[in-house]
Amino acid sequence: MALTAKRYTITAALPYTNGPIHIGHLAGVYVPADIYSRYLRAQKKDVAFICGSDEHGVAISIRAKKEGVSPKEIIDKYDGMIRKSFDKLGISFDNYSRTSAPIHHETASDIFSKMHTAGQFVEEVTEQLYDPEAKQYLADRFVTGTCPKCNHTEAYGDQCEQCGSSLNATELINPKSTLSGAEPILKETKHWFLPLDQYEDFMKEWVIEGHKEDWKPNVYGQVKSWVDEGLRPRAVTRDLDWGIPVPVEGADGKVLYVWFDAPIGYISSTKEWAAKNNKDWEPYWKDKETSLVHFIGKDNIVFHCIIFPCILKAAGDYILPENVPANEFLNLEGNKISTSKNWAVWLHEYLEEFPGQEDVLRYVLTANAPETKDNDFTWKDFQARNNNELVAIFGNFINRVSVLTQKYYDGSVPARKNQTPEDKEALEKMKAFPAIIGDSIERFRFREASQELMNLARLGNKYLADQEPWKIIKIDPTRVETIMNIALQIAATLATVSEPFLPHSAQKLRTILNITNPTEWNAVATTEDLLVAGHVIGSQELLFAKVEDSSIQAQLERLQDTKKNNAEANFELTPVKENISFDQFNAMDLRTGTVIEAEKIKKTKKLLNLKVDLGFEIRTIVSGIAESYTPEEMIGKKVTVLANLASRTIKGVESQGMLLMTENKEGKLIVIGPEDASIDNGFEIN
Ligand code: 2FM
Ligand code: ZN
Repeated sequence: MALTAKRYTITAALPYTNGPIHIGHLAGVYVPADIYSRYLRAQKKDVAFICGSDEHGVAISIRAKKEGVSPKEIIDKYDGMIRKSFDKLGISFDNYSRTSAPIHHETASDIFSKMHTAGQFVEEVTEQLYDPEAKQYLADRFVTGTCPKCNHTEAYGDQCEQCGSSLNATELINPKSTLSGAEPILKETKHWFLPLDQYEDFMKEWVIEGHKEDWKPNVYGQVKSWVDEGLRPRAVTRDLDWGIPVPVEGADGKVLYVWFDAPIGYISSTKEWAAKNNKDWEPYWKDKETSLVHFIGKDNIVFHCIIFPCILKAAGDYILPENVPANEFLNLEGNKISTSKNWAVWLHEYLEEFPGQEDVLRYVLTANAPETKDNDFTWKDFQARNNNELVAIFGNFINRVSVLTQKYYDGSVPARKNQTPEDKEALEKMKAFPAIIGDSIERFRFREASQELMNLARLGNKYLADQEPWKIIKIDPTRVETIMNIALQIAATLATVSEPFLPHSAQKLRTILNITNPTEWNAVATTEDLLVAGHVIGSQELLFAKVEDSSIQAQLERLQDTKKNNAEANFELTPVKENISFDQFNAMDLRTGTVIEAEKIKKTKKLLNLKVDLGFEIRTIVSGIAESYTPEEMIGKKVTVLANLASRTIKGVESQGMLLMTENKEGKLIVIGPEDASIDNGFEIN
C-alpha cells in the first residue's frame, strides 16, 4: 500500500477524564497511533495527529459523585494528569484539546443544529428508564443489566462491552440503577433520534462492499454483523445536567449524548490546532485527498464505524475514515484490566517507577500488541523483552559499534574500502529494512514492524560477530575500517527507523552517533553513506538499561496486594457471634474520647501512634488505621475507646486501649465515635 494521500488526519480515541491512562489504553490506541504518525512525519507527509480529553457523559458524573466533588474538578484533575503522562511517554499529538473547550461546544452545537434544521433527526416522546429514588432518567452507565445479545450481566445502557453491541437502555434485561440500585420504572421523555435505519444502504456500500479487503477482519466483521442485523434509530440526546446543552427550543435540561459530541471533538481539536498554527482546518476534514484514520479500542468500533460516519455523512461535506484499525484488549497477568478493581499498570506510576525507561514500555506494548486477539501483559515478559531484546540485541550492537569506533579511530568514521560479498550482502539487507518496516506500519502491523526493527539490530550484531573486527585488527587494520564503516551505517539506519517506536532512544542514538537531524525514512535506502568517512561520532553511553529482578518483584507484589484488597472488599458480612451475657457486656468499659495527637509509626504501613484524651487521663493507643486516615485527619476526631483492654506493646509502643472501628466495602476503616461531637470526653458508653 503506498502512501498516496495529500495529507493525513490521524485521530486517537479521546480518553475519558474519569481516571488515569493505563497500559490497556496505550497498547490499544495511543502507542500504535503515535508510531503511525511519527512514521508519516519521517516520510515527510502532512500530518495532523489529533486527540483530546473526553469530558462529558455519565462516566464523569459517576466519578465526581464517587469522589464527592464537582465534574469540573474531576475533568481538570485527570485532564492535567493525562496530558502530562502522554507527553512524558512521547506521544506526539499535534494537538490535544478538551471537549469542555468553548470551540468544541460551538462545533458540536453547530453540527447538531445544522442536522436539526435539515430534518435529519426524528423527534419523539418515548418511555425511558427512570430511577424513582434518585429522581433521574437512566441511560448509558447509570444503568446496568443483562445484555439481550450475549447475556453478559453487566451491560451498560448504551453498550455491552462484552459483545460490543450498541444498545438502547430499554433493551436491557433486569435493569438496575447504578445510582441507587433501584429497579427503574418507565417514564415518558422527549429525545432526538438519529435514524440509523435510513443509513443502511450507505453503510452497505461504504463499508460492506467498500472496505472488505482493507479493514481488519475484527473490525469489518463486527460492522457487517450489525448492518446485517438491521440498524435502529439511536437517541443522541440525554436527560442529564452534565454535557453540551441541546441547542434547539424545547430541550431544557437535555444535553447531547456523549457519543454524539465526543467524536466531533476530533474536528474541534483540529480547528484548535489550525488556529494555533495559522492553518486551514477544513482540508483535514473535507478534502477527498485527505486520509482519515481512527485509532481506537474494540469497544469503540460501533461509534467510529457506524454512528460517527453517519453523522459526518448527514452533516454534509465531510470525508469518511479510510481505515479504523481497532485493537483487541490487553489483559494484565491473566486478568482483565479494570479501573474500578485497580487491576492495571498506570502510566503515571510507571513513569515514576521506571524513569528513563519510557521506550521500554512502548516497545513491550508494541511487540505484544493485541492486534488480532486479546493479549496478556506480564511483568516477566516485560523484563525479558527489555533484557533479551532491547539490551542484549539493540543496545549491545550500538555499544560495540561506539566502543570500537572510539577505541580504533578516536570516534572518527573510517572509510569503506574493498568490499567482500558479506559486506555487500549486509549493506543490501540494511537498505531493504526501511521498506520492510514501513510496509508493516502501513498495514497497521505494528508488532511485525517492531520485530523487523529488532531484526535490523540482529543483522548488525551478526555482521560484527561474523567479521570479528576485534581479532582482525592486529592482522589487517585496513579490513577493519571497512567492517566498522558498515557497522556504523547499520547503526545510523537504526537511528532513523527506530524513531517511531523508540523516540527517546532514537534521540539518544543520534547523540551517540552525533547526527543532528533525523534522516528522512526513504533516504536511508538511497543514500550511499549515512555517516561519511571522517564524521566524528559522539561520546559513548548505554542505550538501554537492564531491568532487575527486584523491580519486577515489587510490581508483582503490588498486584498481589491489589488482589488481596479486592478480595477483602468483596467480603461478606460475618455471621453474628455466639450470645454473651449482660455481665460480659458490662465488663467492657467503653468511653468517649478525642484524638489530640497522631503520628505514623516509622517502618510500618498501617500503624498510627495516637494520644487520646479520655477526660480523666491521656492514653497512648496504637491503631492500625494508617492506610485509611492520615495523622492530620485523626487529630480532633471524636472516638469510642475500649478503656479497660489489657495494655500491649506494639512496635515498641505500649498501647493502652483500642478504638472502635468498622470497615467499608473498599476496605477503608471507619472510626466509630459518638454522633454528637459536643459530648465531653470520658463519658461511659453503655
Ligand atoms: O471509550 C472511551 O474511552 C471514549 N472516551 C472514547 C471516545 S473516542 C471519540 F469518539 F471521542
Ligand atoms: Zn453483549
